[in-house]
Amino acid sequence: MSLFEHPEFDHHDEVAFCHDEESGLKAIIAVHDTTLGPSLGGTRLWNYASSAEAVTDVLRLSRGMTYKSAISGLPLGGGKAVIIGDAKKIKSEQLFRAYGRFINSLGGKYITAEDVNIKTSDIDIVAQETQHVAGTGAKAGNPSPHTALGTYLGLKAAAKHRLGSEDLQGVKIAVQGLGAVGYDFAKYCREDGAELIVTDINEESLQRAKTELGAKVVGLNEIYAVDADIYAPCALGATINDDTLKQLKCKIIAGSANNQLATPQHDQLLKEMGILYAPDYVINAGGVIHVCSEATNMSLTETEKRVRDIYHTLDKLFARAAEENRPTGELADQMAREIIESAKQA
Ligand SMILES: NC(=O)c1ccc[n+]([C@@H]2O[C@H](COP(=O)([O-])OP(=O)(O)OC[C@H]3O[C@@H](n4cnc5c(N)ncnc54)[C@H](O)[C@@H]3O)[C@@H](O)[C@H]2O)c1
Repeated sequence: MSLFEHPEFDHHDEVAFCHDEESGLKAIIAVHDTTLGPSLGGTRLWNYASSAEAVTDVLRLSRGMTYKSAISGLPLGGGKAVIIGDAKKIKSEQLFRAYGRFINSLGGKYITAEDVNIKTSDIDIVAQETQHVAGTGAKAGNPSPHTALGTYLGLKAAAKHRLGSEDLQGVKIAVQGLGAVGYDFAKYCREDGAELIVTDINEESLQRAKTELGAKVVGLNEIYAVDADIYAPCALGATINDDTLKQLKCKIIAGSANNQLATPQHDQLLKEMGILYAPDYVINAGGVIHVCSEATNMSLTETEKRVRDIYHTLDKLFARAAEENRPTGELADQMAREIIESAKQA
């Protein structure tokens, strides 16, 4: 199949296949859209079963970055890159330097950052070959605190629309995953009076949430069926699927995890069940806003304002979804496309 007929191909600006024999680098960089600015998106290192699978992933993820940046009001387009291989075996300075040179050859059309299996230290090596990187150890650093803040504010917007008030006093929140984002997010909710029900595979995190946040701990598979007003997925993707939909009792889904819906159809199913879904890439945009601040030299005040704007973006999205009687995920994509279209007209 040619790239142009690929089901995930969506008028991508450029797709670069990068190969460096000496270091073993095999990477694909997809620049989806640069209407609003240079494309930004992380590099994912994954042991894809085939290069066809890698192409599918990079095309889909780069389009997602275009939507995420557009709806978050960032002066950025969408791009993404994948490096093919086993993270435990292929990492080397030579490989990341070769990769950096490929990024540099795109002349700033694509800015990279961290993603799955890529650490700040890897990005620091890439940065020795190109300035088109964000999220380096020396600059923006860890985006998780901003992701946690944005997710908490987005949850409040959802509570306002579905529970009638954004006051979280006594609101029961089921938090799945107490990692870099989940713990801080849970803390914000607790400080606002929420009652927490939590799960994690890490016993230490659970004990901490119990002692410091007064959280009730449940088993890994019990989190879906608990009696909670809000389910906050902050660990894994695809936790909203045919199996969990049968168990959920919540009225809202609002969490930081990426790719929360197992399929696009689950967006409509949630609407039919009366569950208000805060689209993942809108509510968890605090991270990309943080990284963008480095790429565009944004001040900390401006960065925080934009993170706080996640509340307003979701407030508008929920109001419009109710008015037009549409699922929120589908509407978020449309709102992002409208922003890009009006920039093109301008
Ligand atoms: N870090 C960011 O700035 C950022 C930005 C956007 C999206 N996200 C997404 O948010 C989610 C959390 O990110 P993070 O940076 O906090 O990651 P993390 O690795 O720090 O935390 C993940 C947590 O989930 C727990 N976990 C793993 N498997 C689990 C399971 N089966 N059930 C319950 N808990 C489980 C882990 O023990 C860990 O505590 C991810 O989906 C990530 O892609 C993160």
